[in-house]
Amino acid sequence: MKIIVSENYQKLSEVAAEQFLKQLHRKKSSLFGLATGSSPVGMYEEIAKRKEDFSKAKSVNLDEYVSLSSSHPQSYARFMRENLFEKVNFDAKNTFIPCGTAPDLEKECARYDGILKKLGAIDLQILGLGHDGHIGFNEPGDIFEKDTHVVELQSTTIEANARFFSSKEEVPRRAITMGLRPIMNAKSILILVSGKSKAEIVKRAFFGPVTPKVPASILQLHPQVTLLVDREAYQFCES
Ligand code: F6R
Repeated sequence: MKIIVSENYQKLSEVAAEQFLKQLHRKKSSLFGLATGSSPVGMYEEIAKRKEDFSKAKSVNLDEYVSLSSSHPQSYARFMRENLFEKVNFDAKNTFIPCGTAPDLEKECARYDGILKKLGAIDLQILGLGHDGHIGFNEPGDIFEKDTHVVELQSTTIEANARFFSSKEEVPRRAITMGLRPIMNAKSILILVSGKSKAEIVKRAFFGPVTPKVPASILQLHPQVTLLVDREAYQFCES
């Protein structure tokens, strides 16, 4: 695993944007695996500042809340439109995200897996890290879940994400998430982690045992992972 420690969140975001655009320059038709949440916001801002051509690029998002329509202010579909898709020239028909309001969620998971299979390996997967070690919404459990599935969000995740809603009660209890197979099949992975509240989980995920109790620990087995952290998130790993 390659580790890049940045001074602060702004620097981390600039480095992340460089890596993202390097992939785009290497291959205009790259398939990007995209994350939402606060960690990649700065990276998307940096990317949006450059006049780059995304017309041939494709993207698949990690997850979506169950029950939020794509127009809901806190849906990940809307997050992606506001933070990236409306700011660069991604072609909407080349961007994919699970549908949180599908009437049959099992069918929706199978549909999304079909899309992932058809698109082939992700060229660059962007990830954030949950306080409990989740990636996408693959929450701690007894096994590593391979395929797209519906997940009950852990209370730590609901609490952490309550800041985006007007109250904790409004945070959906379930989400659809991509499984770990397409993440682990990605040609390269960039995981962005910032802030002292993540310092402990960074140590457990990347320097502890590989276990489904800490889903991100599986990334230790991937050959092309870059952990991009700021100093605060890396403080317990430096000795
Ligand atoms: C979001 C996602 C989640 C977040 C994680 C960290 O699409 O898949 O795994 O990356 O919850 O969230 P932030 O970046 O808000 O700390």
